[in-house]
Amino acid sequence: MDKEMRQPLIVGNWKMNGGLSDSIRLVTNLKNQLNEKNQVEVVVAPPFTSLHSVSIAISETKIRLAGQNMFWEESGAYTGEISGLFLKESGCDFVILGHSERRQFFKESDEQINLKVQAACKSELIPILCIGEKLKERQAKETLNVVEKQLKIGLKDLAIHDFETIVIAYEPVWAIGTGETPQTEQIEEVHHFIRGWLKRYFDAPTANMTRLLYGGSVQPENAASLMQIDEVDGLLVGGASLHTEDFIKIIHFEENR
Ligand code: PGA
Repeated sequence: MDKEMRQPLIVGNWKMNGGLSDSIRLVTNLKNQLNEKNQVEVVVAPPFTSLHSVSIAISETKIRLAGQNMFWEESGAYTGEISGLFLKESGCDFVILGHSERRQFFKESDEQINLKVQAACKSELIPILCIGEKLKERQAKETLNVVEKQLKIGLKDLAIHDFETIVIAYEPVWAIGTGETPQTEQIEEVHHFIRGWLKRYFDAPTANMTRLLYGGSVQPENAASLMQIDEVDGLLVGGASLHTEDFIKIIHFEENR
């Protein structure tokens, strides 16, 4: 399956920004400005407390909802945690897992992320598994080793049918929120590596279905060129997704070429 066969996916990760009223304002603006004929699949990931209200706001649209994290157990004495079932019940179809901020600030390991990926699939949520190297690792030419380890452990023990929907986001940590984007060749190298690894680990037809996103300082100005990179099927957008005009320009990247 070629790139053309995979539906482009653009995800807005709002992180811990805005409360309920901000979320409603953002999603209402998005809904009003989005060209629904657009072929891009659009997903927003608001904070947990806004999920249910945002899901009602988008119920008549093609916009889909993601959680920003989840726990691997379904229920129980895990104070402060949210399970995949709760995300599903709140209207989510996707869940972002292993974001570098979770790895950095909450010390999430690849093993823990793997438990979450497995639990997400069990709850019929599509995991968006985030992987990527730190600056020091890139400088030490460790990028592909780091990415391989994150894939190998993060995707352990998954059933082959889980791969028909799973999404992988390559986000170099040094590009997140910094305004710095890697060179085209750097993104291409990692995306080719991921696709090749998936083909070896599973099989070519399955690997060819997996959508690979790029994330890190995506802006309206660079969205079209990022989307042209071989094996880039979509974008994971942080800061720019909080500004509807910018996010819309990113989604409508084809018109801005
Ligand atoms: P950014 O964040 O677009 O603000 O760099 C990306 C992300 O954290 O997914």
